[in-house]
Amino acid sequence: MRVLVLGSGGREHALVWKLAQSPSVDKLFVAPGNPGMQDLAESVALSLDNLDELADFAQQEKIDLTVVGPEVPLVEGISDIFEARGLAIFGPSAQAAEVEGSKAFSKELMAKYNIPTAFFKICHTEEEAKAFVEAKGAPIVVKADGLAAGKGVVVAMTKEEAFAAIDSMMAGHKFGAAGAQVVIEEFMEGEEASLLAFTDGKTIVPMIAAQDHKRVNDNDEGPNTGGMGAYAPAPVMTEELRQKAVDTVLEPVIQALAAEGRPYKGCLYAGLMINGDDIKVVEFNARFGDPETQVVLPLLDGDLAKIMLGCAQGNLDPSWVQWSKQAAVCVIMASGGYPNSYAKGKVINGLAKVAQLPDVVVFHAGTSVADGQIVTAGGRVLGVTAVGQDIASAVDKAYKAVSELDFEQAHYRHDIAWRALKRK
Ligand code: AMP
Ligand code: GLY
Repeated sequence: MRVLVLGSGGREHALVWKLAQSPSVDKLFVAPGNPGMQDLAESVALSLDNLDELADFAQQEKIDLTVVGPEVPLVEGISDIFEARGLAIFGPSAQAAEVEGSKAFSKELMAKYNIPTAFFKICHTEEEAKAFVEAKGAPIVVKADGLAAGKGVVVAMTKEEAFAAIDSMMAGHKFGAAGAQVVIEEFMEGEEASLLAFTDGKTIVPMIAAQDHKRVNDNDEGPNTGGMGAYAPAPVMTEELRQKAVDTVLEPVIQALAAEGRPYKGCLYAGLMINGDDIKVVEFNARFGDPETQVVLPLLDGDLAKIMLGCAQGNLDPSWVQWSKQAAVCVIMASGGYPNSYAKGKVINGLAKVAQLPDVVVFHAGTSVADGQIVTAGGRVLGVTAVGQDIASAVDKAYKAVSELDFEQAHYRHDIAWRALKRK
């Protein structure tokens, strides 16, 4: 089949890399893509801002399956546009993508269908929000309702911090319309894990649980980022807990969305808080995680394009999805200064050498080409990924590869997968 992938980050590089290995793929396109994908797919200079143009391209090129990476086009209705034209697409409708697009919708859905999550209140005014914080006390969590590029959540350790977050979201319009209402919720203790699942709206096939590292510095210090690394499988998610997550979270939410007339298909990402044998939902995302995808897909034994087409067409067969017994680790190399301002255009050295290493793949996240050289072009630059027989060996291989790579002011964490290693 002819497959088109949409997006340009590390997650999309991992999707393209895995789809390129699918026996059922004859031709692979990516729009707009990045330099890391150039040998794997034909890049198409279309932006994700014009959804009709993307659908025109898919029609002209007789694309059999389009795979959407990021959330924004999903929330804007790309799947609805493609399906109206009879084009198969992997990703939920705009209405179903509201599980990510509106935290208020997502929390109300969970409350209505008894899906475990933190106690919360949806607030439409600052007074209401502050009164709730006053009543509950700190620590407490303030969330902008709409999409805020992963920056709309403040975990406030004091009431003052919570008030400041409410001010900047509601009065300061920090996230525009996304902050017109906020969700205030109880602080949850525990360890987080990301459980992604393939679904066609009826059948759910969970992937291997992963854990990402949101803080920029070692020891989970410093500001939150899009993710500084990830590993899978995450041992915090025992087989028992994984089954519990399927039974109490994934199955009920897919059924709830269907019951609400918003059938969900694509990848559903459940961010979970695990405390002993208790599981609560932190958030849902309507897409693959970044950088979770970079560690989950290398462990997939199966034809990804066939699985995704099954999700799109409503005939997903769980027997198509098998998992390797190995482990994968991804270390993000970022531009110094990220998640705040950082320099771009720094030459990246060592890529050719690392390409020769066994069990290692470097996913590009923020790179471009200048004067024939690969240079930095974003906050997160590379996702250096390795597969090994266990987490420890994957960590070793990933960091050996990292040591061969460099660019000016490169920053990475030295402790990716520490929680898994500490358990041993
Ligand atoms: P979200 O965008 O909803 O995933 O939130 C970003 C991060 O904030 C999560 O990954 C958690 O680390 C943290 N977080 C969100 N909600 C809570 C909560 N209720 N209790 C504790 N931490 C939270
Ligand atoms: N790694 C977190 C996310 O993709 O939302």
